[in-house]
Amino acid sequence: MSEAREQEAAASAGQGGAMQKKMKKELAPALELRRITRIYHQGQRELVIFRDLDFTLPVGEVAALVGPSGAGKSSLLHIAGLLEKPTSGQVHIAGVNCSELDDISRTRIRRFGIGFIYQFHHLLPEFTAEENVILPQIMAGKSKKAARARAHMLLETLGLAERMKHIPSELSGGEQQRVAIARALANEPLLLLADEPTGNLDPETAARVHELLLNLIRAEGLAALIATHNMELAALMHRVVHLQHGKLVEEFPGGAPA
Ligand SMILES: Nc1ncnc2c1ncn2[C@@H]1O[C@H](COP(=O)(O)OP(=O)(O)O)[C@@H](O)[C@H]1O
Ligand SMILES: [Mg+2]
Repeated sequence: MSEAREQEAAASAGQGGAMQKKMKKELAPALELRRITRIYHQGQRELVIFRDLDFTLPVGEVAALVGPSGAGKSSLLHIAGLLEKPTSGQVHIAGVNCSELDDISRTRIRRFGIGFIYQFHHLLPEFTAEENVILPQIMAGKSKKAARARAHMLLETLGLAERMKHIPSELSGGEQQRVAIARALANEPLLLLADEPTGNLDPETAARVHELLLNLIRAEGLAALIATHNMELAALMHRVVHLQHGKLVEEFPGGAPA
């Protein structure tokens, strides 16, 4: 990538939706992991989760991240989402090498460029669904009016028009996860990272929430990396990558061994 493009990507990294609109496939990938190594130390022992792992996710592409429990899916998503630093290697978001940035810049890219959905919703319990989606936008500097309009659009798209004024404890598990999806997308990120977002839901609800999530990802033109145990849901995405013995193995829908 040219220096001019790199500067453009860096400049737009703080502008949420503007960043997304500017990025085209021929520009930098939404996410690029280069030679990522993660080692945990347990007393004298070294636990190598992955070593020299490479991964590229172009703008607008949706990939499933599968692998057995303990394979390192959450660790990988936390590193990609700039929530944790790898032992070594680089994380590039929209062409920006985030490994070289200070904490303030990393936080800014995380806040404006990346949406994160966890297995458990992590909504603020004392705030309504609407407020949970408005607040991150206010924190990002949006006007209250614009934040409310975006929150309503997202919640309505996710079938929650009648649930906006409810607090999380008044919502079902599937509804809570749908609010968490709206919150993750509130600031119009370029990249969505989801850690088993439907893992706590019954199969029917999981399929419904998953469908809504994929529709919204397409409508917003997002790149997404979604960890899941559910191979049926994984097969609905552009790519399936399998985390095995510290390496990512690419699988192709329909042609992959179980
Ligand atoms: N903070 C930590 N310290 C030590 N080991 C950890 C830590 N976090 C995760 N691990 C280990 O790293 C491995 C991968 O964990 P994780 O990323 O949660 O896997 P997954 O999400 O695929 O189930 C597991 O063996 C887990 O015990
Ligand atoms: Mg996990």
